[in-house]
Amino acid sequence: MTSTFPRHIAVIMDGNGRWAKKRHLPRVAGHKAGVDAVREIVKACAEKKIEVLTLFAFSSENWQRPTQEVNYLMELFITALKQEVKKLHKQNIQLRIVGDRDRFERKLREQIDKAEKLTANNTGLKLIIAANYGGRWDIVEAMRNLAVEVEQGKLKSHEISPALIQEKLSLADLPEPDLFIRTSGEQRISNFLLWQLAYSELYFTDMLWPDFNAAELDKALAFFANRERRFGCTSEQLQEQHA
Ligand code: FPP
Repeated sequence: MTSTFPRHIAVIMDGNGRWAKKRHLPRVAGHKAGVDAVREIVKACAEKKIEVLTLFAFSSENWQRPTQEVNYLMELFITALKQEVKKLHKQNIQLRIVGDRDRFERKLREQIDKAEKLTANNTGLKLIIAANYGGRWDIVEAMRNLAVEVEQGKLKSHEISPALIQEKLSLADLPEPDLFIRTSGEQRISNFLLWQLAYSELYFTDMLWPDFNAAELDKALAFFANRERRFGCTSEQLQEQHA
């Protein structure tokens, strides 16, 4: 079934640095303003009854940034978790962090665990923050898990299928993103949800992330509503299915 409304939206929040530069501010001011945009978009998605919102907050490659910026981003995550979690909980939002947590310092890992536990049973919007996440990392982890099962004799190599791989990926229990949004004019997937974005509609806007707001989200939703999602079928087949 196709729908004019996405169940799952995945976003690369790009352009914080350029937003700051335009204002002669340090890059970190852009990230701070980025958090305000996150707050507005989360609220808008919750109000619109979107099921899942996945935000790319920190990629596996972002460690290569200047140490000062990486440290600032880590502090920002800790502060945001501390300050926002209660509000998210009140909005019945379930928070989950996906990505490799091993490289985070203990304080951040503890905040993440606490936030996930507190909101685990909430039934509203599922807010997924991808942090130290990479699409290739996700696929490698899934393949490693399957390889262990093969080694243990629980699985035969010929039984490996797309469905089995999908089961081992980070967002296995969630619908795949219907709509992907990237801000700041870049038109790349940048090692985000490589497997999961296979059939997503891709929306690119020149808007820098700190300027992205509920009205801009509506534009992306209007774009989505006008797309015909064929999943490899022809238009005629889809019309027949819905006749
Ligand atoms: C990309 O802009 C943005 C990031 C690498 C960080 C995204 C983080 C936030 C929006 C802040 C907090 C998020 C949460 C969930 C608390 P860029 O720095 O690459 O911008 P540029 O391309 O203009 O340099």
